[in-house]
Amino acid sequence: MPRKILVTNALPYANGPLHLGHMVGYVQADVWVRFQRMRGHSVHYVCADDAHGTPIMLAAEKAGMSPERFIAGIRAEHERDFADFGVAFDHYHSTHSDENRVLAELIYKRLDAGGAIARRTIQQLYDPVKQMFLPDRYIKGECPKCGAADQYGDNCENCGAAYAPTDLKNPRSVVSGATPVMQDSEHYFFEVAKFQDLLQDWLAGDVAHPAVKAKLREWFDAGLRDWDISRDAPYFGFAIPDAPGKFFYVWLDAPIGYMASFKALCESGRKAGLAGADFDAYWSASQVARPAPHETELHHFIGKDIVNFHGLFWPAMLHGSQHRTPTKLHVNGYLTINGAKMSKSRGTFIRARTYLNHLDPEYLRYYLAAKLGAGVDDLDLNLDDFGSRINSDLVGKYVNIASRCAGFIEKRFGGRLAAELHDRELFDDFAAEAGNIARLYDEGEYAAAMREIMLMADDANAEIQKLAPWTMAKDPQQTERLHRVCTTFINLFRQLTVYLKPVLPRIAVQAEHFLGVAPLNWSDLAAPLLDHDIRPYQPLATRVEKTAVEAMLKEEATPGVGAPATPDPQAKPAATGAEDAQDPRLPPSASPTISIDDFARLDLRVARIAAAEAVEGADKLLRLQLDVGELGTRQVFAGIKSAYAPEKLVGRLTVMVANLAPRKMKFGLSEGMVLAASNDAGGPFLLSPDDGAQPGMKVK
Ligand code: MSP
Ligand code: ZN
Repeated sequence: MPRKILVTNALPYANGPLHLGHMVGYVQADVWVRFQRMRGHSVHYVCADDAHGTPIMLAAEKAGMSPERFIAGIRAEHERDFADFGVAFDHYHSTHSDENRVLAELIYKRLDAGGAIARRTIQQLYDPVKQMFLPDRYIKGECPKCGAADQYGDNCENCGAAYAPTDLKNPRSVVSGATPVMQDSEHYFFEVAKFQDLLQDWLAGDVAHPAVKAKLREWFDAGLRDWDISRDAPYFGFAIPDAPGKFFYVWLDAPIGYMASFKALCESGRKAGLAGADFDAYWSASQVARPAPHETELHHFIGKDIVNFHGLFWPAMLHGSQHRTPTKLHVNGYLTINGAKMSKSRGTFIRARTYLNHLDPEYLRYYLAAKLGAGVDDLDLNLDDFGSRINSDLVGKYVNIASRCAGFIEKRFGGRLAAELHDRELFDDFAAEAGNIARLYDEGEYAAAMREIMLMADDANAEIQKLAPWTMAKDPQQTERLHRVCTTFINLFRQLTVYLKPVLPRIAVQAEHFLGVAPLNWSDLAAPLLDHDIRPYQPLATRVEKTAVEAMLKEEATPGVGAPATPDPQAKPAATGAEDAQDPRLPPSASPTISIDDFARLDLRVARIAAAEAVEGADKLLRLQLDVGELGTRQVFAGIKSAYAPEKLVGRLTVMVANLAPRKMKFGLSEGMVLAASNDAGGPFLLSPDDGAQPGMKVK
């Protein structure tokens, strides 16, 4: 029975051009969609631009445009880039759309009616000149821990400390330079903890790769914090109904954009008089996360930085508004280029358009597929390896089969395939891989699938080498055999084309033209093409030249050429992926009180400083070895060098946070934090317990 599947891709922010990192998730989803369709399943595939939020509002302002005009321009660019990479959505929408407004209001009202929206006044930093509240990323100042200048409001790039923007010393607004002031504001919170049972249940299913589920469960077990879903004017977004001056936070209406895009797709089908997709069949609560064969499936393809939004808030929002929960999250890791994080200064930032100006999009699709597994591992685009991989696999192995045999069919046999294969067994061997390769595609194990396919191509090439049709061609006795041999290899090429078609749609279309066949499907693998006219062979793929790669890098390095619309599209908090997205583990920023449970989450321990030394290259840090009794020894970097000589610290007791997530710093791993007091007048003063306390004792 054909499956009924709705596939979505993460919605790219409408604040700048797409880069090659973005393409990982879109290629991954597009391959999956094409594969499922080749298997005869029904798939709808939608996406949209994520158009709301402070960064977009400010970028538009900087560009001297209304936000509407600004996002329209970016959307057109995005759509062109996707189309040129062969990422073929059935519909591409915008979160700034009527459909999305209606759905966002509906979902919010249902959550509110269900008692899941709380209203509380909180204090936040406010820019008195620009007259707006400032997201964490729009406040800079000196790190409260190590004193490093020019640090963002959420964490320090020098010492790695995480803090609230209110902790910064000498804070200033990135927007106006003014000193921010604290101001009260009523905020709206989604009480996600009310959906504890639902989420627990959902997480028990096969809803994501085990590594993703483990991460989600970690957050879940740490307790679900209320999620701040409102922002104050001025804000580019949707007004919250009956709440003057309040807007939905961009991440509230962003995933609803999946529904809005699909709604628009259904509507356009209806208007065209087509029996298209039925919105409710995919979204109503009667559709469950683990569907029976006759039910619909909902698959979200996202990057690893936005798992919390899709694995905690989103299922809860859906369930709380009487919608179905997702069938599966497909999560991709991050792309690095030549082993480095994408960065403009390092010359490893490559826009999708720059790539397209110089190289074949199908080559990137193949390269990414050859590296993608079902897990969340990061993947590297090594540009030397890229060229050799394409040249060896696609040019040297796959199309080589057709190019070596097509000429004989054309010139010696009038372009007609023989009525019989020379080696039916080899053909059947290739067909027998169908189930295995299908399973690998379905599970997202593309790298393994590509490996299997290239092993088959190796077999075919070895066989060509062995039979040497070019020698046969010289012997008039062997004409018939030559015909059947070349027919066999053309058929193997056809089977490899079926296997590669989800990844290489353009090459597949050209191969279909060459073979004179209708669009190939999985079901074509079993029966050979015989007694059939094919067309003259035209090269399907050519070698990657080093000069093309160099020209691409050169274009990217040339200042002023198509500079991105925003200063740095990579500038977002590392862990969460949004302007001021909150990690669900953390309480809302600047919240005035915490519960006793909040406090209990801190594992504070008495520690004995076993060793202390200065850190070369860091003028504020000391490296401490802490003896924490039952917890063993911990290494911690502390910004206390200005106040303590290392040798004076050895042997003394202090208090540490023992369950702070370890942080990789330039100097090594920091596995916790020691507590010290300070303010403008002085410090830091290391805390210590009274006499008698022992290392490892819990502080509570
Ligand atoms: N707008 C949000 C998503 C909202 S979904 C309801 C967003 N946008 S984004 O433009 O920053 O990222 C779009 C997608 O690209 C995300 O899935 C993100 O994880 C992915 N990637 C961004 N940079 C990437 C790499 N360097 N490598 C791999 N994926 C990357 O997040
Ligand atoms: Zn710091």
